Amino acid sequence: MARNKIALIGSGQIGGTLAHLAGLKELGDIVLFDIAEGMPQGKALDIAESSPVDGFDAKLAGTNTYEAIEGADVVIVTAGVPRKPGMSRDDLLEINLKVMEQVGAGIAKHAPNAFVICITNPLDAMVWALQKFSGLPSHKVVGMAGVLDSARFRYFLADEFNVSVEDVTAFVLGGHGDTMVPLTRYSTVAGIPLPDLVKMGWCTAERLEQIVQRTRDGGAEIVGLLKTGSAFYAPASSAIAMAESYLKDKKRVLPCAAALNGQYGLKNTYVGVPVIIGAGGVERVIEIDMNADEKAMFDKSVASVDGLIEACKKIQPSLA
Ligand code: APR
Repeated sequence: MARNKIALIGSGQIGGTLAHLAGLKELGDIVLFDIAEGMPQGKALDIAESSPVDGFDAKLAGTNTYEAIEGADVVIVTAGVPRKPGMSRDDLLEINLKVMEQVGAGIAKHAPNAFVICITNPLDAMVWALQKFSGLPSHKVVGMAGVLDSARFRYFLADEFNVSVEDVTAFVLGGHGDTMVPLTRYSTVAGIPLPDLVKMGWCTAERLEQIVQRTRDGGAEIVGLLKTGSAFYAPASSAIAMAESYLKDKKRVLPCAAALNGQYGLKNTYVGVPVIIGAGGVERVIEIDMNADEKAMFDKSVASVDGLIEACKKIQPSLA
């Protein structure tokens, strides 16, 4: 059986890390695309030269032309400009919308059967626009946000309780931004919901709220520390988990920015919800029950995504 082909559109900090992880996990042959000349070629060669040491077989190529992504099974998009300190994800909107237009055209022409994972921020609006620009079916175009947000939540919880990260599950809904909705009632340590852990005296409700807030601010915390860019290791790991679930038909249940066509009472939008990712792409959107407080937070998050989508339509009327 031929190897899968993974195309990375954008070969910057996240793109390079994606290529390395995809190689280490032997997910397939890898093409790194970027508008910067030499850089994707250099990263491809550097990672290829690590393959004898780590013992993985994959062809790695760097390119500046879309022809090289021909027939890709998975396309992961990080092309665009990352956040600088003091810049919100929304400030990126206008620049990155133009990038999505070019990327969407390239995917439509050369990889129309791919499963496409978008990482470029502001995430929910960019993945919505990328699906429109590419014209690919909406269950084949998904945004990476929830896996990262819930990974941050899981890490903070594991650190707080001094337990293995493997035993912490966490649930984050809504848009990728300051309005994301970490759901404590659906988040557990080995199946014990967080509110029960508060009752058991593992931590106070106030402390839990601080952890929730740190999760919401997780991206900004890294931007503040790095000063010259935004997070890239955890975002890359998160997108690779999604790609792997698709390529291996694992049918993992992962929170992703997915197209909603009636679920949660929403249409023609992308919001972070739990989905099943398998060989069919997004095979199912899981509609969970929310209490009044959670619903209010979710609605606020959806409204903020709607605002960004409306802004995209103003900038690019063909999207309306
Ligand atoms: N086509 C292809 N690549 C592009 C284009 C374009 N039109 N415009 C910019 N790029 C490339 C840049 O040359 C750069 O190499 O996209 C790459 C982005 O890489 P970084 O600047 O290192 O950004 P990164 O940290 O990888 O983040 C990428 O993901 O999390 C989001 O907010 C983040 O939107 C940002 C994206």
